[in-house]
Amino acid sequence: MKILHVSCSPRGQASESYRISQKIIEVLLKREPTAKLANRVIGDGAISHIDESYATALGATRQSFAEIFPKGSMSQSEELIQELESADFLVIGTPMHNFTVPSVLKAWIDHIVRVRRTFDSTKEGYVGRLRDRPVFVAVSSGGRYSGERARQPDFLTPYLKAILGIIGLHDLTVFSIEGTALGPDAVVEARNRADQAIEDHFRSFVVRSHSVDQQT
Ligand SMILES: Cc1cc2nc3c(=O)[nH]c(=O)nc-3n(C[C@H](O)[C@H](O)[C@H](O)COP(=O)(O)O)c2cc1C
Repeated sequence: MKILHVSCSPRGQASESYRISQKIIEVLLKREPTAKLANRVIGDGAISHIDESYATALGATRQSFAEIFPKGSMSQSEELIQELESADFLVIGTPMHNFTVPSVLKAWIDHIVRVRRTFDSTKEGYVGRLRDRPVFVAVSSGGRYSGERARQPDFLTPYLKAILGIIGLHDLTVFSIEGTALGPDAVVEARNRADQAIEDHFRSFVVRSHSVDQQT
């Protein structure tokens, strides 16, 4: 068993999204004590944006075109995809930036959502190539975007659901800590809510073994 933790906050281990991610990972490790944890820290901008050869290869109509460009972003993409493929659980800890995912997470997505590698574009639509597996997303935001006190839109959650769904990851659970900029009392309230949501969710969570049917 392997847990992949993608950590997206520039504040690293001091961040709220990291804190919730750790709670999720703790529970998973209690259930699966022998599971290995892989940490992919990208919040500091460790993943570069995709380069010209990668964009050219993805825009080409033939698979072989990608093989002509094994360097640059293509090798980084391959490394990140293989890391994801080998994981049984994916935990993403991310802040909300400007109503959506931070640019570092978008850069990771640009590397792992690759046509003819992690999904196919068919006449019927997009078909994911990765086997499904539980994905847990821990989102931290300065303001609130859900419930009666919401004051802003949320393009992060629907976007992640849509884009990960394309590559075959549909089993998504989102935990949020909302209102971190609204003062210490709001932070305590938000932390308690997030912790409770995690506890409630995992009380009935059963580790299912998704079938290994990936076609790479
Ligand atoms: C560039 C930037 C953009 C942000 N945009 C939003 C936003 O759209 N909505 C929001 O509620 N908070 C926004 N925030 C605040 C962060 O989401 C908030 O501080 C969050 O708790 C940070 O999470 P972290 O502790 O995991 O880094 C933004 C912060 C930064 C630095």
